[in-house]
Amino acid sequence: MRSKIIAGNWKMNMNNKETKNLVKGIKKSIKRVQLDNTRVIVAPAYVNLTSAIKRAKKSNLEVVSQNMHQAKNGAFTGEISADMLKGIGVKTVILGHSERRSIFGETDAILAEKVNSALENGLEIIFCFGELLEDRKSENHFSVVESQLKNGLFHLDSMAWNQIVLAYEPVWAIGTGETASPEQAQEMHAFIRKLLQEKYNTSVADNTSILYGGSVKPANAEEIFSKQDVDGGLIGGASLNVADFTAIIKAI
Ligand code: 13P
Repeated sequence: MRSKIIAGNWKMNMNNKETKNLVKGIKKSIKRVQLDNTRVIVAPAYVNLTSAIKRAKKSNLEVVSQNMHQAKNGAFTGEISADMLKGIGVKTVILGHSERRSIFGETDAILAEKVNSALENGLEIIFCFGELLEDRKSENHFSVVESQLKNGLFHLDSMAWNQIVLAYEPVWAIGTGETASPEQAQEMHAFIRKLLQEKYNTSVADNTSILYGGSVKPANAEEIFSKQDVDGGLIGGASLNVADFTAIIKAI
């Protein structure tokens, strides 16, 4: 079901104590915000998921994972499986973040495996994708996004899309202070919805939430979220601060 979503991707920030404090702060501040059909999500580091989940109890705040490994189990030192996440009460996982793709070599094929493993374990997915600056400069941004979606997700049947949230994050806008303009975001989101319509049907196209990510701040959030095909944001830096994150939630 299409809903508005503000999700904070904390990346490799916040130790356990800081995580607890930040969850507590966000939990307190969203109590005062009217959240009509709006989900508020945070993604702390693996090691802090359990304490974040505990702290977020009895609130509307959802705690999700930033990643997972595609295998069921086995000799993958240092990795975490979907079943392990499920076992501690995680219901949603972010997959395909550009930092996972570029720094940790996650290919479309690996991501398709991760998608399958997450769904087999009943986890919802926030699937990230987006073009590099050079792709946009060479006007290949639509084809890059199309191939990331095709290769990572289009093997799924339409039913599976109940469990998918999309997050368009142009790589040139991540952590750079440079955002896509509201018009650029809307143009891409409308293109994505058209792809869903063509590959699946109107129901999948209309019911899939598509978030924008990349330097969303209190100062630009409202304008970006005002676009009709933008259903919310995946927020990095500004999600680490209660006041900024709350302002972004209010903007939607
Ligand atoms: P920033 O908001 O810091 O640009 O990060 C965006 C992001 O990567 C969220 O996943």
